[in-house]
Amino acid sequence: MEITKARFIGSATNVAGKPKTKLPEFAFIGRSNVGKSSLINMLCNNGELAKTSSKPGKTVLINHFLINEAWYIVDLPGYGYANRSKTEKEQITRVINDYLYNSEELEMLFVLLDSRLPIQKIDLDFINELGKRGIPFCIVFTKGDKLGINILSSMIEKNKKTLLEYWEELPPVFATSSQTKMGRKEIIDYIYKILELIK
Ligand code: GTP
Ligand code: MG
Repeated sequence: MEITKARFIGSATNVAGKPKTKLPEFAFIGRSNVGKSSLINMLCNNGELAKTSSKPGKTVLINHFLINEAWYIVDLPGYGYANRSKTEKEQITRVINDYLYNSEELEMLFVLLDSRLPIQKIDLDFINELGKRGIPFCIVFTKGDKLGINILSSMIEKNKKTLLEYWEELPPVFATSSQTKMGRKEIIDYIYKILELIK
């Protein structure tokens, strides 16, 4: 399958503000600046679709993109951006949690991790909370182009090991780059496999 059509539908601060047309949703989350919006643009072959920035904290709302007139990609704000006021942090956490805990259409959450870094405590806490709440998720390593292929695979193996200290088995893991389009086909195929299953 291929993404042939992608368009921005709207932004919301909570589940009540989601688009009126209910369709399966595939959402992207991760620390601020990890590359969520860039990955969405890469998947959609459209550099302008989701707003990106070299400064963390760009995405602050729940953004819905309608794909092939059949399902949504959802761009979420990043968690863990230090340079915000307490009120702003609480507001962002509310937006994220309201979406994650109350979104009946959420089929899969892609949790993005920077492939250059050992997995951070904030990511582990976030992932473990998903487990407790039974939210279906998989793992996406981003910015793979910034590492050589050998270092990339050893970083991913190391991070998988860390996750296996908490989990008996791992969900699917994708290595990606928004620059080289690494992992694009794998993620789109995976989404279509899920869409087939729930048809
Ligand atoms: P927030 O919305 O602020 O939470 O950030 P985000 O996770 O949406 O990150 P965004 O896509 O805006 O990317 C952050 C920065 O990382 C930008 O400068 C991107 O160009 C860069 N970036 C994202 N993905 C990649 C990648 O795969 N490779 C490289 N080299 N840079 C990337
Ligand atoms: Mg963003």
